[in-house]
Amino acid sequence: MNVITGTHYPGLTFLKKGKVRDIYDVGEYLLFVATDRLSAFDVVMPQGIPFKGKVLTQISAFWFEQTKDIIRNHVVSTDVDAFPKECKPYKEELRGRSMLVRKTKPLSVECIVRGYLSGSGWSDYKETGAICGVPIPSGLVESAKLPQPIFTPSTKAEIGIHDENISFDVMVRREGQEISEKVRKTAISLFQRASRIAEAKNIIIADTKMEFGLDGGELVLIDELLTPDSSRFWPKATYQPGKSQNSYDKQFVRDYLLSIHFDKKPPGPMLPDIIIQKTSDLYKQALVELTGKSVE
Ligand SMILES: Nc1ncnc2c1ncn2[C@@H]1O[C@H](COP(=O)(O)OP(=O)(O)O)[C@@H](O)[C@H]1O
Ligand SMILES: [Mg+2]
Repeated sequence: MNVITGTHYPGLTFLKKGKVRDIYDVGEYLLFVATDRLSAFDVVMPQGIPFKGKVLTQISAFWFEQTKDIIRNHVVSTDVDAFPKECKPYKEELRGRSMLVRKTKPLSVECIVRGYLSGSGWSDYKETGAICGVPIPSGLVESAKLPQPIFTPSTKAEIGIHDENISFDVMVRREGQEISEKVRKTAISLFQRASRIAEAKNIIIADTKMEFGLDGGELVLIDELLTPDSSRFWPKATYQPGKSQNSYDKQFVRDYLLSIHFDKKPPGPMLPDIIIQKTSDLYKQALVELTGKSVE
């Protein structure tokens, strides 16, 4: 198995490197490539996770398809054989881990929807009784289900800097009233649709982060969608409010990093093979459970 921690396509115009994705400009569209890089505590680890980029791409493709009637998304094609001809030399590496997407101007905020009390939402609630200024009934325990999903935007931070939760009013000041309201309504609809689909597969979506962009004034759903990297997925079978939950993601990596007292500053440490293997298995399991498909 070929683990890809970085791409090098001299025949294409490199545009930008995110924590996980490498993006190329291929004329009318972007080539959006998910590598096997893994970030934990916002630090990219030196080793890749086998199959991770393919899992992320295929889970996103599944959700974009399931939600395309709610909002237009950036996917143009996931079929490498249909990509522009300059991608051809890299076709085998791109297969399964890349998408051709529409070029958009991403909004300056990340759009988080929460259905359950966890992570920074739980911390905020304990301190203020609200999340990002959205009032929440009192007396809820950690991981409790919220009466309805809430929209809690955050600012987008550069690599190495942590995102910061903001109120809806701050989002309105950055992006305007009309766009902000449309994004909030759409993000909640997407979350409700996905939650129903996942529940039927015994998976709880506790919360998720989405991104939207503008393409000539039209609002478009971009980036990755409802993956283990952008969401908290909890197995329904072991869900128990009142404590933190195991999830389908980087639990083994986070636990390992905490055990070695990782200072959360780059560079990340080398991870033991067993941690890499177990993490790879979790990603693959998420794909199978959500979509019924597997990667090879
Ligand atoms: N259709 C699109 N048009 C423009 N930018 C996009 C589009 N889809 C995603 N992006 C941007 O590409 C980047 C995705 O790479 P990723 O590795 O996930 O980055 P990050 O480290 O910011 O999470 C994000 O910065 C996202 O805003
Ligand atoms: Mg990202």
